[in-house]
Amino acid sequence: DGYLWFEGLPFPVLNYSYEVLKEACAQFVIKDEDTVLVTYPKSGTHWLVEILSLIHSNGDTKWIRSVPLWDRSPWLETNGGYKRINKREGPRLMSSHLPFHLFPKSLFTSKAKVIYIMRNPKDVLVSGYYQWNMTKLCKKSESLEQYFQWFMQGNVHYGSWFEHIRGWMSMRDRENVLLLSYEELQKNPRSTIERICQFLGKKLTPEELDSVIKNSSFQVMKQNKMSNFEMVSETFITKPFLITRKGICGDWKNHLTVAQAEAFDKVYQEKMAGFPKELFPWE
Ligand code: A3P
Repeated sequence: DGYLWFEGLPFPVLNYSYEVLKEACAQFVIKDEDTVLVTYPKSGTHWLVEILSLIHSNGDTKWIRSVPLWDRSPWLETNGGYKRINKREGPRLMSSHLPFHLFPKSLFTSKAKVIYIMRNPKDVLVSGYYQWNMTKLCKKSESLEQYFQWFMQGNVHYGSWFEHIRGWMSMRDRENVLLLSYEELQKNPRSTIERICQFLGKKLTPEELDSVIKNSSFQVMKQNKMSNFEMVSETFITKPFLITRKGICGDWKNHLTVAQAEAFDKVYQEKMAGFPKELFPWE
């Protein structure tokens, strides 16, 4: 049906396989010095990889200009992902969209640093609608309404947004977990990036910090062919798809009907009952 099914969840059909998913989830060993970026797709993953790469380089742009983003922070669960990570020495950077209950259990006994970034789910929905229709990773939706239904049912890559958030929220009070939002990164890039540095135990000079902020900005990143998806093969995407689509908060208001937004809110209230509202920066 246009998906690869693993543990009852739909995954992309290209660049993923049942065996690799199974091995990665069951066997991958996280090390104490690793940094793991976890997100539900379309929540600002690539933006954060750019930021983490720049922090790692003390604001120097050589690494982000010469190495594709997915090589800087390989995707744990994709084909080739965890095997590539296993070959690396020293502190490693990696990304994953895995839901909490499927994540390699070695994380829970390690001191690895986990950064989880979340985003207003209505914006996640709209961003995903555009992205998946321009990729060859899965079946395409015929309309936003159809994609809306899929999203609400969790019938999209990596399953339900609600379940993803609910699962990872259980880690939020751990010392080695940093919870961020796309919205705060947009509103206060400087203080958010400072928080990330503090979490990572990294000290940057004011000039280095300026460079991280500037070079991870939407405008600059959109021009960086190592990060904007210009380099992704047409096997996977329909050109001219770029990961840097619009890069704003609240684009859902330009897309969802009043009825859709109301239906969304109703489900949201049910599924997210029990979580303090202050935890999330969206209305
Ligand atoms: P939109 O589709 O709403 O524009 P992910 O990396 O998790 O797939 O998320 C992609 C979303 O992050 C896209 O949202 C994209 O535009 C946005 N994004 C990518 N780079 C960004 C940046 N440097 N600043 C702000 N948003 C960025």
